[in-house]
Amino acid sequence: MQTVIEKIIEGEETLNQQKIEKAARILREGGLVAFPTETVYGLGADALNPSAAAQIYQAKGRPSDNPLIVHISCMEDLERITLQVPPQARKMAEHFWPGPLTMIFEKSEIVPAETTGGLNTVAVRMPSHPAALALIRAAGGYIAAPSANTSGKPSPTLAEHVALDMEGRIPLILDGGAVGIGIESTIVDFSEKIPMVLRPGYITPEMIKEVIGEIEMDPGLVEENSNIHPKAPGMKYKHYAPRAELILVNGAQEKVQQTINNLTREAVESGKAAGVIGTDESCKGYQYGIVKSIGTRSDEDTIARHMYGILREFDEQNVDIIYSESFSTPRIGQAIMNRMLKAAGHQVIEV
Ligand code: TXA
Ligand code: MG
Repeated sequence: MQTVIEKIIEGEETLNQQKIEKAARILREGGLVAFPTETVYGLGADALNPSAAAQIYQAKGRPSDNPLIVHISCMEDLERITLQVPPQARKMAEHFWPGPLTMIFEKSEIVPAETTGGLNTVAVRMPSHPAALALIRAAGGYIAAPSANTSGKPSPTLAEHVALDMEGRIPLILDGGAVGIGIESTIVDFSEKIPMVLRPGYITPEMIKEVIGEIEMDPGLVEENSNIHPKAPGMKYKHYAPRAELILVNGAQEKVQQTINNLTREAVESGKAAGVIGTDESCKGYQYGIVKSIGTRSDEDTIARHMYGILREFDEQNVDIIYSESFSTPRIGQAIMNRMLKAAGHQVIEV
């Protein structure tokens, strides 16, 4: 299969409706299309068509027990795919939709088991990216879409990343340029008595508490405790990982820098290709290997936005080992570190 990449945003940020319609037709006919959202690129299929949803698992190499998120474009469409929407969830929707929030509800009959990985709940998100919203509307209202990467690889934040993973597997990639946020949506489960965060994201627990009061964190997110499995099946897999070994170094900045310099010197001397992930503030202090800045500590959004891209860049440069600073920044640090720790298989050097 030949994969076509179409730019959908022209000049003054207007959408090319013809290309949206072309993509929508593929989806209505049961095919797959990758498209931009504000978080990461998604790999879409008609969420109400079992065989279309099933194709997603094949294209990604995704385990079949890992459910998909259904993307909608308006509140009316939420009613048809859920049994009930608690008042607190409606409040959340008013505040954060369209946006980087996914909520889990009991599903109605029309949502096939292929979309929900056999669960009787369904994850729903209304994205804010104009191309995503236009595509959902044109395709009939319900697009099932995981991140458009091969299972286990870093999520795609550029159409080029999608092409690297999906070339030859899907007919069309809509190219909307670089995404704005760069990490996946926050997932909150409303099928529990007390709403529970299953995946940290751009919308923080503090922001949620301000809107609905009490929430819980999934105890399975604390992955050091391996007896408790996370409730979102996707959170249990080693995930987001680059090919190179990634090791995080955590502690006071000066010590971190010293340690990374020592370790990269050793790696380079033993003939390995080493990489360093620092920030705009710290990069000039690193002396060995390929040094890249993930963003600036004065704007943590830049760190989230470049995280996956930087891991992919190191892969392209065939680096064997990457040492990275850690990024427990004040607001979205929890979400960033959740991804970085997974990418590193929890290898952390405390200094
Ligand atoms: O930002 C995002 O959420 C992106 C964009 C494309 O919207 N999508 C995304 O999808 O990250 P994916 O498939 O990569 O991650 C979905 C996560 C998985 O961990 C999955 O296990 C969990 O959501 N999930 C989906 N439905 C669920 C359900 N009914 N119960 C528990 N977890 C669920
Ligand atoms: Mg994913």
